Amino acid sequence: MNILKFHSDEDFVQTGANLIASLLQSNPKAVLGLATGSSPVGVYAKLVEMHQKGLVSFSKATSFNLDEYIGLPVDHPQSYRSFMNEQLFNHIDIDSGQTHIPNGNAADMEAECLAYDKMLEENGPVDLQILGIGSNGHIGFNEPDANLSSKTHVVDLLEDTREANARFFDSLDEVPRQAITMGIGGILKARQILLLVRGAGKAEAIRNAVEGPITTQCPASLLQSHPNVIVLVDEGAGKWLK
Ligand code: F6R
Repeated sequence: MNILKFHSDEDFVQTGANLIASLLQSNPKAVLGLATGSSPVGVYAKLVEMHQKGLVSFSKATSFNLDEYIGLPVDHPQSYRSFMNEQLFNHIDIDSGQTHIPNGNAADMEAECLAYDKMLEENGPVDLQILGIGSNGHIGFNEPDANLSSKTHVVDLLEDTREANARFFDSLDEVPRQAITMGIGGILKARQILLLVRGAGKAEAIRNAVEGPITTQCPASLLQSHPNVIVLVDEGAGKWLK
């Protein structure tokens, strides 16, 4: 794992954005694995800025998002489709038909999971997978558990994850109880992984993930088994790293 610590927010987001932009410059047809949540927001904003300056194009790129809430209407402001449109897709030249997000409103969720993995298989592997980490060590919505699923699956969100995400909703009650997420196997198939970690609230999770044992109780620790992971941490998140 290549761990880079940043004192400046600007350097953090510029480094993340540069990695994605240089991939697209060398391979315009790159397949991007995308995450939602607060961690990648600055990097997405920087990519929008770079796109507006003519420095990067997404016109031939394909994207796959990690996850989506189940049962939230797709046009709900907190659906991950709305998030991606607002933070990135509406401001760049990506073909919306090439942006994939699991359908959290499919009538048959089992079929949706299989179809998402099939699409990943046909279009993949993902060239660069962007990840955030939950304060409990989750990646995507792969929550700590005795067993982790390799494939895309439906997951019951843990209460601490719902509480962490309640800040985006009017009340905790409105936070969905389930999500569909790519599995650990799907995530680890990416050629390169870029983990973005910000804030002191993530200090323990990232220390466990990169310095602790590889355990399903900290799903992000499985990234230690991947040969090409870059971790960007800010001062708060990196405060307990060696
Ligand atoms: C989002 C996702 C989650 C988040 C994680 C951190 O698509 O898969 O694993 O990356 O919950 O969320 P933030 O960045 O909001 O702290």
